[in-house]
Amino acid sequence: MDHEGDGFAELSAWVGGNDGILAYDKNGNSNTLTDNFIKGAQEAGHNVVRFDSAFKNVHPCIACNKCGMNGQCVFKDDFEFIRDNIIDADAVIFATPMYYFGISAQIKAVIDRFYAINGQIHTPKKSALIMTYADTSSKEAQPIISHYETLLNYLGWSDSGKIIASGVWTEGDVNNTEYPKQAYELGKSF
Ligand SMILES: Cc1cc2nc3c(=O)[nH]c(=O)nc-3n(C[C@H](O)[C@H](O)[C@H](O)COP(=O)(O)O)c2cc1C
Repeated sequence: MDHEGDGFAELSAWVGGNDGILAYDKNGNSNTLTDNFIKGAQEAGHNVVRFDSAFKNVHPCIACNKCGMNGQCVFKDDFEFIRDNIIDADAVIFATPMYYFGISAQIKAVIDRFYAINGQIHTPKKSALIMTYADTSSKEAQPIISHYETLLNYLGWSDSGKIIASGVWTEGDVNNTEYPKQAYELGKSF
C-alpha cells in the first residue's frame, strides 16, 4: 500500500489478540483479509489485539545480545506492545504482502525481535498465515510458507490455516476474490 504516494508500498501485516496477535497493512489487500479474519475471530468470541507494523517503530535486532534471549532489549520502541501481548496470547496470526519473494521487512523486524523474549514464547499457540502477492505462481509462495512453517516448528506453535492470496496487485484487487470470505471463515474457525 502506497501510503506516502511516492510509488513505494509501505507494508506489513500481523493480527493478534489476547487470543492472538496480528500485524497488517492498512487499506491494502493484506488489510482487507486481516479485517475479515478479525471479524470472524471476534464473532467466534475471541478478543483480538492487532499490531500494525506498517505504522510502528520497531528497530531491527542488532545482535548485541544484551537481552540474553530472555530479557530487556536495548531498544525501547513499539516492540514493547508486542512483548506485553504476545507472551500470553493463545494465537498469533501473521499477515503480510510478499516483497521480493519474502515477508515484508516490517514484519521480519518484529519476528527478529522475538529474540529478546525467546525464552517466553516457546509455549503452545495456534497460528495462521495471511499472505498476498501479485503473481499467480504457487511456487513463488513457497519460501514464505516454508519460513512460516519452520518458525512455527521452532516455537512449538501449530498452524491452523493459511490464506495465500495470489494474483492481487493493486489496492482493492482482493475484493473481487474468494479470499476475504476464506479469511473470515478461518477467523471464525479459531
Ligand atoms: C516492494 C514490493 C515488492 C514486491 N514483491 C513481489 C514479489 O516478489 N512477488 C509478487 O508476486 N508480488 C510482489 N509485490 C506485489 C505485492 O505483493 C502485492 O501488490 C500485494 O497485494 C500488496 O499487498 P498490500 O495491498 O497489502 O500492500 C511487491 C510489491 C512491492 C511494493
